[in-house]
Amino acid sequence: MAQETPIEELDAIARGVDEAFAAARDDNELRQVTARFSGREGSLTRVMKRIPELPGAERKSFGQRVNEVKGRVERALATAAERLRSEARAKELAGPAIDITLPGRRPRLGRVHPIMRTLHEIIDVFSSLGFDVAEGPEVDHAENNFDRLGFPPDHPAMDMHDSFFLPSRTPSDRVLLRTHTSTVQVREMLSHPPPVQVVMPGAVFRRDDDATHSPMFFQLEGLMVDEDITLAHLRGVLEAFLHRLFGANVKTRFRASYFPFVEPGAEMDVECLICHGHNPACRVCKGTSWLEILGCGMVHPVVFESVGYDPERYKGFAFGMGIDRLTMLRYGIGDIRHLFENDVRFLGSL
Ligand code: PHE
Repeated sequence: MAQETPIEELDAIARGVDEAFAAARDDNELRQVTARFSGREGSLTRVMKRIPELPGAERKSFGQRVNEVKGRVERALATAAERLRSEARAKELAGPAIDITLPGRRPRLGRVHPIMRTLHEIIDVFSSLGFDVAEGPEVDHAENNFDRLGFPPDHPAMDMHDSFFLPSRTPSDRVLLRTHTSTVQVREMLSHPPPVQVVMPGAVFRRDDDATHSPMFFQLEGLMVDEDITLAHLRGVLEAFLHRLFGANVKTRFRASYFPFVEPGAEMDVECLICHGHNPACRVCKGTSWLEILGCGMVHPVVFESVGYDPERYKGFAFGMGIDRLTMLRYGIGDIRHLFENDVRFLGSL
């Protein structure tokens, strides 16, 4: 049998195109069929190489025919790809139904921690009473935490067992996690001339851990200094504050107490809003029906001297309250540690 001419071979290739693509059942087979025609080893590539066998006058029209067949391959490929897509879609639609009626999942919203909510409310009350707000560092010098506040050198709070000291670089460099926000009183007076009227919130640190004490807790310090400040101002401000926070009927009491940086000094208690005095075993008030919430007093002249205020001319009061305790009372929480365990179910219930 005589060998096929290039033209006969090209005709045979062209006749096979549609059938070959119609037989492809997936994308992979489509790729293989395409390569069989137009790939480097494909039949169209091979037949193109036979051009020199043709007489010069026929070569050009042969090249054009090869290109036509290539175009046909491309159209057949597009048709087959479209066929595969609609087959897949039809199969999907005929398959098992997807249930789109399940309820959606609601994203859980975070919210402000109860201690911070209480703190913000407290600050609102003091702002409305004319107080500014200031902050200081959590790590401070012992001078600001103790010395300038008139602590005697042998005061137990200065003991390693009671406070968290940081390793010091030199023997005279005593740095610690502040044990109270009274450090910020000192800083405010060192940096501002009188009069001052300011509250100072922040975290403080002590070596304590039980139902009503945590090693880290929050305080709000208050300081008011001017020429004619008296104990009556102190009581008036604190009672106005507690009535605003807990309602006008809440019972409070003022007890004489001692802090080195005030004279006279006092503590203020709020009735136990957990047991209202009815539970002798109450873990929060320890059966006393009162909860101590703050220390306060008239600023000691020694403190004024150490910050450069004239103790003859200026008088002032200071207080420091425990925000965590106020939060416990406000939300009826029986153990301070609940506030720091970060149990979302508990915090979300408040
Ligand atoms: N700094 C005291 C404490 O932490 C509280 C206090 C502040 C007392 C201001 C008197 C005046 O216990």
